[in-house]
Amino acid sequence: MTTSSEQARKTAEALAYSSGFGNEHSSEAVPGALPDGRNSPQRAPLGLYAEQLSGSAFTEPRAHNRRSWLYRISPSAAHPAFVRTDNGNLRSAPFTETTPDPNRLRWNPLPEPAAGTDWLAGLWTLGGNGDATQRAGMAVHLYHANAPMDRVFSDADGELLIVPERGGLLLRTELGLLAARPGEIALIPRGVRFRVELLDETARGYVCENYGRPFQLPDLGPIGANGLANARDFRAPVAAYEEVEGPVEVVNKFCGNLWSAQYDHTPLDVVAWHGNHVPYVYDLHRFNVIGTISYDHPDPSIFTVLTSPSDTPGLAGVDFVVFAPRWLVGEDTFRPPYFHRNVMSEYMGLIEGAYDAKAEGFVPGGGSLHNMMSAHGPDRETFDRASAAELKPQKIDDGLAFMFETRWPVTATEQAASADHLQRGYDEVWRGMERHFRP
Ligand SMILES: [Fe+2]
Repeated sequence: MTTSSEQARKTAEALAYSSGFGNEHSSEAVPGALPDGRNSPQRAPLGLYAEQLSGSAFTEPRAHNRRSWLYRISPSAAHPAFVRTDNGNLRSAPFTETTPDPNRLRWNPLPEPAAGTDWLAGLWTLGGNGDATQRAGMAVHLYHANAPMDRVFSDADGELLIVPERGGLLLRTELGLLAARPGEIALIPRGVRFRVELLDETARGYVCENYGRPFQLPDLGPIGANGLANARDFRAPVAAYEEVEGPVEVVNKFCGNLWSAQYDHTPLDVVAWHGNHVPYVYDLHRFNVIGTISYDHPDPSIFTVLTSPSDTPGLAGVDFVVFAPRWLVGEDTFRPPYFHRNVMSEYMGLIEGAYDAKAEGFVPGGGSLHNMMSAHGPDRETFDRASAAELKPQKIDDGLAFMFETRWPVTATEQAASADHLQRGYDEVWRGMERHFRP
């Protein structure tokens, strides 16, 4: 970690503030940079350019409408042509490299990257669904990086939900700085430009690229006004700008491909902003876990942190679900996740510790894919243990697992289907389930 990035991390943590979720808010790095009352006055303050960044159609209902007004040193329009550049290990929807696979699949963590691999070069796509050009579906990416980015990235195809598993990230975004450590998540909205620096020697984690409707907090129904992820725990950056002249590479992901342009200035030059199309971080340890206090346990949808709704009520394009530390108290209940087959498709990852449905093989940095209707659940060892356990109140506090749960099957990329770190023989964990039936 360099001194400057350590200072930047402290600055980011000191300045990021509880903004609530999805609210209109504002920030200025220089007093007086925000125009008073008008979005686009005849002359913006301090000689800045006013520019709107729209994350939803102009006319979407107010509850879904997202846009931010940016007051910047140079207008975003001032750039040369983008040219195609190598996609590296990044793939995008539609995913057609392999045949959709009904088998249960599980991977070990990504191998060490070559020296000098920045966050963008370290992205490795596991699979996904939908069609980026239709703004539908999602992709599962992993990353493993060991060098800071000296270029700037933005994703026109979707928003990026970043789940660090090892090593902290410093995100220098158009709207300001955010620090995200393992146990926290960060979200970069569609089109927002950013650069990733590392707070540790290496950084590893997961990314859900959501092509669909932006993530929002789930409705709470009978739970009431509080619970799950509380809106006030989401933190937004305060405005912070750079003044760099000279060549800066800006990479744009557009309809599945990477495009590159050499700017003559940094695009991270926003001096003030207001709006609700804003990056944020959230500490998963703040998730208010709700579960049974009688018997059985609710479906894992009770652990939903964020949801990307579809046009069908209750049917998400993708949900982000966390299995956080919690008490298990259900009486006469098989307490680990039950055996099930699900019309939704589940990609699971592990941020730290262990997961209560698997004895081994599901490790931090690895992941499992249980596609539509594939049968899964506790492994044999877990089943035997939980079936015989004395049911005292029990604290599960040694792990943090998560799930990207999506309405469409996830088709693996060629590199994921043939990876050395794909676990051959995952089916074995359910072998030898004893027959107990005695009519
Ligand atoms: Fe499942």
